[in-house]
Amino acid sequence: MKIKYGIIFICIIAVLLIEKENESITTQKGSLTFLQVLLSKLSYPKWNYTNSSEEPEKEDQKDLETRGHKHVLLMASTRTGSSFVGELFNQHGEGMFYLFEPLWHVERMLASTAETTNWRDAPGIFRDILHALFLCDFSSLENFILPPPKDHVTPDFFRRESSLSLCEESVCSPVDKDVFQRYRCKTRRCGPLNLTLAAQSCLSKKHHAIKSVRVRLLETLQPLLEDPRLDVRVIQLVRDPRAILASRMAAFSSQYHMWKNWAQDGQVPEDDEEVMRLKGSCDEVRSSVEMGLSQPAWLRGRYMLVRYEDIALDPMQKAEEMYKFAEIPFSSQAREWILKNTHATEEASSYFSTQKNSSEQAEKWRFSIPFTLAQVVQKVCGPTMQLFGYKFVNDEKTLINKSFSLREDKQFN
Ligand SMILES: *[C@@H]1O[C@H](CO)[C@@H](O)[C@H](O)[C@H]1NC(C)=O
Ligand SMILES: *[C@@H]1O[C@H](CO)[C@@H](O)[C@H](O)[C@H]1NC(C)=O
Ligand SMILES: *[C@@H]1O[C@H](CO)[C@@H](O)[C@H](O)[C@H]1NC(C)=O
Ligand SMILES: *[C@@H]1O[C@H](CO)[C@@H](O)[C@H](O)[C@H]1NC(C)=O
Ligand SMILES: *[C@@H]1O[C@H](CO)[C@@H](O)[C@H](O)[C@H]1NC(C)=O
Repeated sequence: MKIKYGIIFICIIAVLLIEKENESITTQKGSLTFLQVLLSKLSYPKWNYTNSSEEPEKEDQKDLETRGHKHVLLMASTRTGSSFVGELFNQHGEGMFYLFEPLWHVERMLASTAETTNWRDAPGIFRDILHALFLCDFSSLENFILPPPKDHVTPDFFRRESSLSLCEESVCSPVDKDVFQRYRCKTRRCGPLNLTLAAQSCLSKKHHAIKSVRVRLLETLQPLLEDPRLDVRVIQLVRDPRAILASRMAAFSSQYHMWKNWAQDGQVPEDDEEVMRLKGSCDEVRSSVEMGLSQPAWLRGRYMLVRYEDIALDPMQKAEEMYKFAEIPFSSQAREWILKNTHATEEASSYFSTQKNSSEQAEKWRFSIPFTLAQVVQKVCGPTMQLFGYKFVNDEKTLINKSFSLREDKQFN
């Protein structure tokens, strides 16, 4: 199963890479040793607690270790609304250092060295990079950025503009007309990203949040949560698997064309690889959620499960809950951003622009997914849907009946 997964994934990535990054992969075709070298380079700053704190013996242990800094990992899968939820933290303001999908670089590098990549190592690599990033160490991530940064400067940081903190004045190096600037900031004109400046800014911030759709299994994160230098909270975001499929079909239409054909035929071969893949990803999410809710000692009080639909129904309330859970003060900037972006306004706001409200937007998929496909999802993702409190529908009429809620009221935490 995992191998199939990897192969399909590699093919997709390979196609993307061949299209976009032709020159860079050929030079980076590595060997096992290359990856091992990368792994051995993973390092975190080893802080000397005794030395770095002024009066160590007077501080209580927790303060000594974390100094009140909070670290939020927003763990999700694609098309679950994670960009929007990440934005709730990105918009916090001054004291927040937010990163949007930094592991994109890592995944791409692993795919480019596909013939030597053991995908079983990927979760550990992802975790170690997150670990370093939470400690404001960008050097391990640098090893995965293509083309390799020069003197810690790169114009190719993935979606830099999605992190307000990477476009702050202090991180914004002067614009050089000769440098090809692929990722510019929205708020100001910045030169290529100087990762030393980014790390300095990171160290100066009290709170840190990272959004990632690349962490699949919660259990792989244990060492991160056990590091006394960090105070990590995991927010796992889930969504109705029927909605995810509908959304992926719309967003990645060429990859999902088979689903469209099946919908037209009215028949879905349930042992098809695509269907098994859907089942696999549902099972993976469920297994993480089960682990989170079972509250093992290393996660106690550090795990929150959130359904996207609940956020869409009341973004303000849910944002407040997530901030409270993370023990980060809910800022007025974040509040204003939510007000502005979840209600209809004339200006096109990035998330729910054309809709009356976010909840309606979150339910739109009910009119786009053919009932046959909804049924297949219910079949292969049944246990997952039950655990998360998503109701089954037995006919098309109910699927498109907006007065019929597909969500059970459920408290998880
Ligand atoms: C303590 O830290 C300072 C820098 O903060 C450094 O200059 C000094 O050498 C350190 N002392 C010891 C004993 O490590
Ligand atoms: C940390 O600093 C203290 C002095 O402040 C020093 O005695 C100790 O050896 C240092 N520890 C490490 C691991 O560097
Ligand atoms: C990046 O920032 C650091 C810290 O300010 C600076 O020392 C370095 O020269 C900068 N790098 C480049 C290439 O401008
Ligand atoms: C959004 O729309 C849904 C259904 O149309 C409704 O139940 C909900 O109260 C609305 N929310 C807001 C904030 O207007
Ligand atoms: C839609 O659902 C509501 C609530 O379950 C139900 O009362 C109503 O009869 C349904 N409408 C149709 C047309 O099925």
